[in-house]
Amino acid sequence: MSKTSSHATSVIDGVDIAEEISKFVKLKPSKNELLGLCPFHTEDTPSFYVNPQKRLFYCFGCQAGGNVINFRAKIQGLSNADAIEALGKDYNIKLSGSFIDHQSHYQVLETALHLYQNTLKQSIEAQNYLQSRDLTAGSIQAFKIGYAPNGWQNLAGLKQINSKHAKELGLIIDNAKGGYDRFRHRIMFPIYTHHGSLVGFGGRSLGDEKPKYINSSESALYNKSRILFGLNQALQNQQKQLILVEGYMDVISLHQAGFTGAVASLGTAFTASHFQLAAKYAESIVFCFDGDEAGQKAADKTFHTILPLVRDQISCYFLTMPRGEDPDSFIKNNGIEAFRAKLTAARPFSTHLLEHYPLSSNPSLEEKAQQYDHLQKLLNHMPNSILKRLIIEQIPQLSNNHKPIRASKSSEKPNHNMRFIELAFSYPELIISQKDSLKQYLAILPSTVQLAIQRVLSNPQTSLAGFLTEENISFTQNTHAVNQAHDMTEQMALHEISGLLTHYQMIAVEQKIQEHMAMIEQNINAKESSEILQKLLIVKHGLIKKKSLLAKSEDL
Ligand code: GTP
Ligand code: MN
Repeated sequence: MSKTSSHATSVIDGVDIAEEISKFVKLKPSKNELLGLCPFHTEDTPSFYVNPQKRLFYCFGCQAGGNVINFRAKIQGLSNADAIEALGKDYNIKLSGSFIDHQSHYQVLETALHLYQNTLKQSIEAQNYLQSRDLTAGSIQAFKIGYAPNGWQNLAGLKQINSKHAKELGLIIDNAKGGYDRFRHRIMFPIYTHHGSLVGFGGRSLGDEKPKYINSSESALYNKSRILFGLNQALQNQQKQLILVEGYMDVISLHQAGFTGAVASLGTAFTASHFQLAAKYAESIVFCFDGDEAGQKAADKTFHTILPLVRDQISCYFLTMPRGEDPDSFIKNNGIEAFRAKLTAARPFSTHLLEHYPLSSNPSLEEKAQQYDHLQKLLNHMPNSILKRLIIEQIPQLSNNHKPIRASKSSEKPNHNMRFIELAFSYPELIISQKDSLKQYLAILPSTVQLAIQRVLSNPQTSLAGFLTEENISFTQNTHAVNQAHDMTEQMALHEISGLLTHYQMIAVEQKIQEHMAMIEQNINAKESSEILQKLLIVKHGLIKKKSLLAKSEDL
């Protein structure tokens, strides 16, 4: 196989076509495919299909179609070779050397899935186990549940398996003899992205053997913090309310009971990236925790994770199962209607926040003061929103400390750095397309803005929240609402970015002007300095003009 064609294969298999196309086209689930308005011709009713399994797109209106490379080439006017390189860069796919000659990661996963599904049909023991867990044939089929048979070579021994990739995926463990199966005698739950790409497995032991669960490794395809188990099905069911639970079995059990919004973060806590992913699709999230100590800890951690992210467009609720129960066992013991009642009675985020530091009965003024102080600190972490204002209004003692939150942009001192960062993460394509001109500005930009641009360029999938968390940047009082930037057209965003760049240029020029004026005053290189000063003043004049032009076009 030639080098270019092996590069093409790595890109086609390594990039989730739905994720890539979603950057340009708003896609909605439609049966096993995704549907949107074709970016290559003008249309009012969508006829542009993306098939994540087949890794292809096709427009029935203009017949444009192909794989992810063809898409990127067409949408950005690149050659296929350039598109391969660009995608490789964007998705961190190594393209040096030719390493894919037989099976891609993606095919390895599909082969394994096939094996697990087939062996389940032959194992009475595994079927009995699933039956003992009350899983129906419908659920087994919908979640493509399988069984990894006992033995060391069931997968590793398959001729067509690319063992290098199977090892990278954590399906085969390396040894001197070439490797053995990692998953043995386990119920296998395939893990899909929300777009429907198979990226890994979770395997549960049939009895009490430890560890209870093993997950396949994170890979180029599988990034735990970007995956919610069950979201794929929730979206197919057009669920606007997600129910976040702790485990695989909870998700499947809830779907089986008709709660098709159930999703779980797997083998990791619920992160800011999970929230961003959920918030893209849902109008509300009910966080549902097990009735044990771990569940309580998880609830508290989740509360603090979402505190800086909550916004008016997505309502959050908290629900804790009775002691000793998880959602799966709760439904079994109490029935579907009892769970529905629990869901309806879930505590709103605001109630949870207000009761976060409960007062003793008959509190002293000191105790009250302390509680309000705690609350004030929590509220400081919340971005401005109507909800925040409503919460503050509940407590007269706090309302006086807070200036009313104004909706109008001009009355608030804008935080330029945060706004730039917010725009960069909301419009990564814009940053990528403007990369060359942005690079000329890098030196005059504040370091956090520089960092943000570099991050978007090296990994356009990074979320704003992920970046802020990693860089330890907190949302400040005068930050715009996190989501605002998403509601703009790309042109509006570009316009705002130009304005911000002009602002930073102005600061840089002002600083130079001050420096040279000081030098003239102190008679150091005065002649040279005054020549430079002349030029700087011309530049400044140009910037003032540009600023007023930008402001005028904003008014139009
Ligand atoms: P069942 O016991 O089959 O009902 O599973 P569960 O989904 O209720 O599991 P549990 O509440 O114990 O754990 C919640 C989730 O944490 C699981 O679904 C797994 O994703 C993860 N988990 C639990 N135990 C382990 C383990 O031993 N190893 C790993 N890696 N993950 C685990
Ligand atoms: Mn359970």
